[in-house]
Amino acid sequence: MRDSAAMSASPDVPVLVTQALNLCRSQGFVSSIRHEAGRLLAALAASRVGTLGELGTGCGVGAAWLCSALRAGARVVTAELDPVLAERARELFADDDRVEVRAGDWTTLEQFAPFSLLFIDVREVKRNGIDLIADLVEPGGIIVLDDFTPSSAWPPIYDGRVDDMRERWLTDPRFTAVDVTVAPDAAVVIATRR
Ligand SMILES: C[S@@+](CC[C@H](N)C(=O)[O-])C[C@H]1O[C@@H](n2cnc3c(N)ncnc32)[C@H](O)[C@@H]1O
Repeated sequence: MRDSAAMSASPDVPVLVTQALNLCRSQGFVSSIRHEAGRLLAALAASRVGTLGELGTGCGVGAAWLCSALRAGARVVTAELDPVLAERARELFADDDRVEVRAGDWTTLEQFAPFSLLFIDVREVKRNGIDLIADLVEPGGIIVLDDFTPSSAWPPIYDGRVDDMRERWLTDPRFTAVDVTVAPDAAVVIATRR
């Protein structure tokens, strides 16, 4: 019998996520979204119509989670600065015309706004991009920010200091936001555009 206390979710993942994880391995890429956050991303994506975006494709794991839950007529656009990763990710989604992988800076996605969901996985945009991003998301649209460390304090603490990046997203009046712990060592911020 499996030790269910050690596992917060089923280890089974969509086939495309497995393929993207295999691509990570072949590319030596270690910065992909983990299962717990991917499941949350997919659950949110399942509520969306229109255009879903991702800043920072990596090897396509986040995009694969988004695709696993896409509603009819919805699509995913994702941008990756590294041209080799962008090409590999494009090959991964070659058979899925709901997904477009753009090589280049994330700003190449601005033309697809407004977004019903935007997964921001480029650190610099998380840190300094709130004013650039806010108006790219439709009213009621959801921004997902990954890769925080759980904090039970307010303001949130990371590495002994106030996590001002997270605090900014959680307190910006343009959003209603929440910090969600998805694993003992992983948290995600969800910010819904007012
Ligand atoms: C954390 S990884 C993305 C992981 C991916 N979202 C996933 O869920 O598996 C961040 C990626 O952003 C890319 N990146 C960094 N700066 C960027 C920029 N200005 N525009 C687009 N992509 C960028 C990096 O090359 C890297 O592949």
